[in-house]
Amino acid sequence: MRPLSPTIICPMPAATKDAGKKIEALREKIRRHEHLYYVLDQPEISDTEFDRLMQQLKDLEAEHPSLVTPDSPTQRVGGKPREGFVKVPHSSPMLSLDNTYNEEELRNWERRVHELSGRSDVDYVCELKLDGMSLALLYEEGKLVRGVTRGDGSVGEDVTLNVRTVHSVPLSIDREKLRKAGIPLNFEARGELLMPTAAFRKLNEERERNGLPTFANPRNFTAGTVRQLDSSVTAQRRLDFFPYFLLANGRTYFERHWETLTALEKAGFKVNPNRKLVHSMDEVWRFIQQWEEKRDSLPYEIDGIVVKVDRTALQDELGFTGKAPRWAIAYKYAARAGITKLENVRWQVGRTGKLTPVAELAPVAIGGTTVRNATLHNMDEIERLGVKIGDWVQVERGGDVIPKVAKVVEDKDHPRGHKTFVMPEKCPECGTKVVRTEGEVDYRCVNANCPAKLRETILHFASRGVMNIDGMGEALVNQLTDRGLVKNVADIYKLTKDDLLSLERMGDKSAQNILDEIENSKKLPLERAIYGLGIRMVGERTAQFLAEHFGSMEALEQAGAEELQNVNEVGPRIAESIVEFFSIPANRKLIERLRDADLTMTGKKKERGTKLAGKTFVLTGTLVRYTRDEAKKMIEDAGGKVTGSVSKKTDYVVAGVDAGSKLDKAKELGVEVIDEKEMERLAG
Ligand code: IVH
Repeated sequence: MRPLSPTIICPMPAATKDAGKKIEALREKIRRHEHLYYVLDQPEISDTEFDRLMQQLKDLEAEHPSLVTPDSPTQRVGGKPREGFVKVPHSSPMLSLDNTYNEEELRNWERRVHELSGRSDVDYVCELKLDGMSLALLYEEGKLVRGVTRGDGSVGEDVTLNVRTVHSVPLSIDREKLRKAGIPLNFEARGELLMPTAAFRKLNEERERNGLPTFANPRNFTAGTVRQLDSSVTAQRRLDFFPYFLLANGRTYFERHWETLTALEKAGFKVNPNRKLVHSMDEVWRFIQQWEEKRDSLPYEIDGIVVKVDRTALQDELGFTGKAPRWAIAYKYAARAGITKLENVRWQVGRTGKLTPVAELAPVAIGGTTVRNATLHNMDEIERLGVKIGDWVQVERGGDVIPKVAKVVEDKDHPRGHKTFVMPEKCPECGTKVVRTEGEVDYRCVNANCPAKLRETILHFASRGVMNIDGMGEALVNQLTDRGLVKNVADIYKLTKDDLLSLERMGDKSAQNILDEIENSKKLPLERAIYGLGIRMVGERTAQFLAEHFGSMEALEQAGAEELQNVNEVGPRIAESIVEFFSIPANRKLIERLRDADLTMTGKKKERGTKLAGKTFVLTGTLVRYTRDEAKKMIEDAGGKVTGSVSKKTDYVVAGVDAGSKLDKAKELGVEVIDEKEMERLAG
């Protein structure tokens, strides 16, 4: 037994004693709420209240550091899951990778592998480093039971419903197939979820057209997509999944990583084909160099190469440091960037009138292409960069994505520029005053006849989902607008065969086809014409609701903001945008001309039930009996309205499983909370 040291009695000051009691009481309270939230899923207080309690505890502990104990709730890392997503612990930690940036660092890594393993004949597997987010898929009896995000590596979020919408994820694999692949019935596949570059561009353009904020890169878009509460949104966004690990009971199953990849492929997973089993670092280096040259030809983005020790036994020997394995390393490609001079800034006007600052650059070669223009996004970004004309800037380019100005470069060879530039007060094309809606980053020109908007507007109007005028693509629209034959969408209906025949590469037959297409477009339903007007924030779906609610363009034109908000999915911002559009005389004139041209200007008002007339609902959590769309339709068919956030105006909150902050808010405001059955009863 250790000899007892003499006890020094050091009385605790009264103030510390009081603080100790307070701290313990607070911890008890927080633990109780954590249990209610995480374990029982029955929170009694709002997120804000919970955060306040936690902050009080943190402040007290900061004042009395001697009272901090390892079991205090402040010592636990992590936060609450977002509403609708349940936190799930991983079977074994989902690790990250250490990075290397040049050949020397890579060779140093190899040397460490040799030293630690005592071997020099190590095989490696080279894979592409896909620029998405990692995801774990759990299979039981060959069936997909759960998809979990990486989260903090130990605990992720259950995104199963969303993952099920990804086409390359097998939902069920039959026993025989698994047996042939040598995979057990219960296993876990881990890999990368990503958005192909083409889908990224298309979806971002669509968002841009509909006046929604765009995503900076496919990775952010992927993360935003997999965490959608509404899985039908995920389904539309075409994600892809490439697995690269296979675990059983939280451990690597096969003896070699190469075997894992082959087995996953045999089982029907989309394993990335651009992989290689190599026997030396020279071969690794060749693989890295080859793919650096070819990366632009891939349909998705990569940011490097991952090198993994092939043998599992050797992997186990090498083990981990912190959060990364010693048996794998990432070689990161340098962002494809170049330094050049910012010569000017011009303002580009899009279809919705949004003004985007475009940097005009001294031509610079980046990754095989010459870059002359790069986006500066918006005024906020310009302020963040602090950029001036004449500055030297670093320009970055990723895959198909538009080049962007990443930062200002300043040293003795690259002196600063001096010319500042500001957001023009008037549209650079038509001189109409530029407007910035409160709370928004973007400035817009609101003149429907703005020439810069014209081309984009006409292309949108003629596109398949709108007036479906086949043949009216970019080449034709450019000629029509350049020659002044089409000055607004109504002019399309005034075009004659002679007009068309006067254009380049236009024969009699093509001209007649286009006229026929134009004629046919007149018969399309009212919602198409509404969508075609290009009102900001009015996409295809909103146009449909507006047509069903008002039944005519005339009624829509005359509607005030209040009435507009009675339409499904139309909130104050969309209503304001519609009112603003119709308040501009040029826009009203345009509609008159479309009416004169005989476009469909009336439709069938949708006869909706009246049981829920005037009632506003909010759906929250995961519904069990209906999909969100079905529930919404049920409410809307009965005359009710579904909105996204709870306010005093909300009549009912329909709470499904895992309802979180919206439920708190409803309780706070005293809004009636009902379940799906009750919703069904109310809707009749
Ligand atoms: S292996 C323990 N292989 O890169 C090893 N990761 O920077 C961890 N990634 O979180 C992952 N392609 O999201 C691995 N072929 C690949 C990968 C890959 C992309 C991502 C993954 C990981 C991140 C680490």
